[in-house]
Amino acid sequence: MLYSAPKKRIDSLMMTQAASSPFPVSENVSHMKPSSTLAAMQAAEALRATGANVVDFGAGEPDFDTPENIKRAAAAAMQAGKTKYTPTAGTRELQQSIIDFYQGQFGTLYERSEVMATSGGKQALFNAIVTLINPGDEVIIAKPYWVTFPEIVVFAGGIPVFIDTEENGFVVTAAMIERAITPRTKAVILNSPSNPSGRVIPPAEFQAIMELLADRAVYAISDECYLRFVYPPAEVFSAAVLPANLRKRLCIAGSFSKTYAMTGWRLGYALAPPEWTKAMLKVQSHSTSNPTSIAQWAATEALRGPQESVAAMLAEYTARRAWLLEALRDIPGIRCDEPEGAFYAFPDLRGCMRGEIKTSGEFARRLLEEEQTVVTDGAGFGAEGYVRISYATSMAQLEEGLKRIKRFVERLD
Ligand SMILES: Cc1ncc(COP(=O)(O)O)c(C=O)c1O
Repeated sequence: MLYSAPKKRIDSLMMTQAASSPFPVSENVSHMKPSSTLAAMQAAEALRATGANVVDFGAGEPDFDTPENIKRAAAAAMQAGKTKYTPTAGTRELQQSIIDFYQGQFGTLYERSEVMATSGGKQALFNAIVTLINPGDEVIIAKPYWVTFPEIVVFAGGIPVFIDTEENGFVVTAAMIERAITPRTKAVILNSPSNPSGRVIPPAEFQAIMELLADRAVYAISDECYLRFVYPPAEVFSAAVLPANLRKRLCIAGSFSKTYAMTGWRLGYALAPPEWTKAMLKVQSHSTSNPTSIAQWAATEALRGPQESVAAMLAEYTARRAWLLEALRDIPGIRCDEPEGAFYAFPDLRGCMRGEIKTSGEFARRLLEEEQTVVTDGAGFGAEGYVRISYATSMAQLEEGLKRIKRFVERLD
């Protein structure tokens, strides 16, 4: 016989539900701020939907299409029925291609037990932080930082400890980190080239940081998402090249998203000592299981196939960077250091803020309203007074957008 709940009980259940709304978001998540970079994207989208001619410098993704050989590898994998679950750490082929890449580029031979594929670099960071951080642990993060770092730390119950790096042109040093270390410091998150500043930690400084952390038994998470987009004379550098004793407490988070214009494929990886990797695999096995199987085959081809597309994208970014820097510096009051990597300019606008515009947030909001141009407020990255301009967009868009920014700033006079 079917159980039928008495009407009175149903009524009271419905009342309980109504009384408990709005949704009782968990403590962990209620402390999380929505991503300010995604907020900029949504604002652009909303404006575009009204038919406005929007220039969007908000996007943190390449404007290039995924290279053909990579797309073909995914299609072939699909046709061949490679559409099932894979091992949590990724297919053997993908693991091996990551190992081969690091050995070829940086001369370091990782074991399979130290390599796992993830659903984007973001999941590698998430896995690394939640497996390491206990409530109350301090995690040092240099400003300006990629918005997701402190949010994952807080989610894990940790305490982000921010350090100012403006005095050194936004390049963190070992001395700065040393001043911030306390007995509660568990880890430092490093990101070079940096999103949003585009600055690069010079290899010798990176090594000095890692020596300091090894001395103090502090862990390091190195986000190398923009590893291969570096403009000479800055050098491509991975923490993977460091001697083994400096990698004992290191997790590298890598990504296919930017290097191969594969943002939507959601493929990244983590390289970490076996015990750390084992813990990360446990988390991943209970969350996403494994990155999408066909995306893994595409990523394997990305690493094993021709690399001309990476060089071509870098050449294009190099040309755009040169043009953009000149155009920005041509606007009175704007100061902009040269980005050495990634594809963002991070201009200081404090010299052109006037009247009602006292913050970079207000600047970005008014620029969107009056000139339909999207830039990302630096305050979200911990750098009030700055905005991030992505040049992962066409020269035509750069030219139009810079014309608008100039017009907007001139109107402020
Ligand atoms: C600094 C940094 N790290 C990691 C990521 C994550 O990239 P994905 O999850 O697409 O691999 C991004 C993406 O914007 C980033 O800018």
